Amino acid sequence: MSKSTGTHFKAFNLRADAAKVLHQILEEGQSARECLPLAQASLKDQDKAWLQEMVYGVLRNLPILQFWLRQLLDKPLKNRFKIVEQLIMLGFYQLAFSRVSQHAAVSETVAACQPLNTLAMKGLVNAILRTFIRDEYSQQPAPSKQVASGLPKWLYKKLESAYQDDFNDLIANMQTKAPIWLRVNSQKVTRESFAQELEQSGVEFSYTPEHPEALILSKGYDVTSLPGFDAGWFAVQDGAAQLAAHFLQPQANDSILDCCAAPGGKTCHIIESHPHLSKVTALEIDEKRAAKITENLTRLGHTANVIIGDASSPDKWWDGQLFDRVLLDAPCSATGIIRRHPDIKWLRKAKDIDVLVNLQKQILDAIWPLIKPGGTLLYATCSVLPQENHLQVSDFLSRTSNALLDNSFYNDSTDKPGKQILPGEQQMDGFYYARLVKS
Ligand SMILES: C[S@@+](CC[C@H](N)C(=O)[O-])C[C@H]1O[C@@H](n2cnc3c(N)ncnc32)[C@H](O)[C@@H]1O
Repeated sequence: MSKSTGTHFKAFNLRADAAKVLHQILEEGQSARECLPLAQASLKDQDKAWLQEMVYGVLRNLPILQFWLRQLLDKPLKNRFKIVEQLIMLGFYQLAFSRVSQHAAVSETVAACQPLNTLAMKGLVNAILRTFIRDEYSQQPAPSKQVASGLPKWLYKKLESAYQDDFNDLIANMQTKAPIWLRVNSQKVTRESFAQELEQSGVEFSYTPEHPEALILSKGYDVTSLPGFDAGWFAVQDGAAQLAAHFLQPQANDSILDCCAAPGGKTCHIIESHPHLSKVTALEIDEKRAAKITENLTRLGHTANVIIGDASSPDKWWDGQLFDRVLLDAPCSATGIIRRHPDIKWLRKAKDIDVLVNLQKQILDAIWPLIKPGGTLLYATCSVLPQENHLQVSDFLSRTSNALLDNSFYNDSTDKPGKQILPGEQQMDGFYYARLVKS
C-alpha cells in the first residue's frame, strides 16, 4: 500500500471522497461498481488505487469498525452528519489495518471535515481518533468470531450451518483480496505468445494447469494498458467463471443459448471454445447491461445474437427453435465473489435470498422446455449458499422427470449434485455448477 498520497490537499480530499463513496454504498444502497468509478474519474492511477483500497478496506472490516464506533461515539450521528461516521471508521481502518502513519491518518482524516461541509465535527473526529490510538483499540480482540469475520450476522449464520468443516477456511478466504485472472482469446492469440508479450512488458503472472486459457496476474495492473487489450487478445475473467465453457462443452454446429448473459464474459468464452458453432444467442433482461455484451463481443471480434428479454418468459422472445446447449448463469446472491466485491456483503439482505431462489426456480422451469432431447443445461451461480446451488438443483431434479444429472464431468467427492467451488480454492472465486442432461 502507498503511504504517500500526493500533496496534503489531494490527500485530505481522497479521505473525503472515500467517505462519500462509503456513504453512497452504506446509506444509499448504491453499488461500488456504480459510484467508485465516478469518484475515481479525475484521479491519477496511484490515487485511484488508494481510494479503492480505503473504500474496500472499510467494507471488508465493517463489523469491527462499527463496534469501535459504538464504543467511542456517545450517540449515532444523524442527517447531514451521518457521513462523519463513515469518516471516523475510515480513520480506524487506516490506524488498524493500513501502513499509513498515525500522524497522517489522523490529520488527513480530520482535515476531510472541510470538503465534507462538516467542519463542526472536526474536534469530535480528532478526539475519537486520538482516543483510539491512546487506548490501543486496534489491539483489543474482536467481541465475537462473527465481528472478526467481517461478515453480516445473517450470512455468517447461514454459512456456519452449511459448512461445518470448511467454515473457518471459508470465512478467512472471504476476507482476502482476489487476484486478477485473464482469459486469452484463443481465436486471436495463443496463451504462449500472449505470455511472451506480457513478459516483454515486465508484467508478472502465473498459470494453472486446470485453466488452459488463463493467466493470473501477480499484482494489480491496469488491464486496459496491457498489450493487446484494444486488439481483443484477452478478457478479464475469474478462473471459476472460465470453467463454464469447459463444463458446457460446445460441439460443432450446436445452437447455444446463454440466458442470463451480461456482461457477456461467458458468451465470449463459449464462442472462443469452438470455431464452428451454428448459432449463439445471448439473452439479458437489462437493456444497459445488454449493451455491455455487444461491447465485449465487438472488442474480442465475435458475433452473437443479443436479445433483450426475460428468461422466465420465453414466449416473449423465443423463435421456437430448440437449443443444443444452454448456459443458465443465474441471478444470485453473489456471495462467492464477496472477496472481489466487498460491497455485496452490505447491499445484499437476508430477505433477498428467498426471492432469488424463487427467480432461479422460475427460470429453470421456463428454459428447460427450450432444450432438444439429449441436450444439456449448465446451471451456474457465483454463490456459496446451498439454497441457490445443490438444493435448488435437487429440487429441480425431483420435479422434472426428463432431467438427469451428469456429475461425471467434474471431480467432486461429495454426494451432493453439482460442483461447489469455494472462494480461494486454486485462487478462484466461489462458484457452483451443475450439468443437467435432457433424456
Ligand atoms: C451472473 S450475471 C451473468 C454474468 C454473465 N453470464 C457473464 O459471465 O458475463 C446474471 C445476469 O442475469 C441477468 N438477469 C437477471 N434476471 C434475468 C432474467 N429474468 N432474464 C434474463 N436475464 C436476467 C442480470 O441482469 C445479470 O446481467
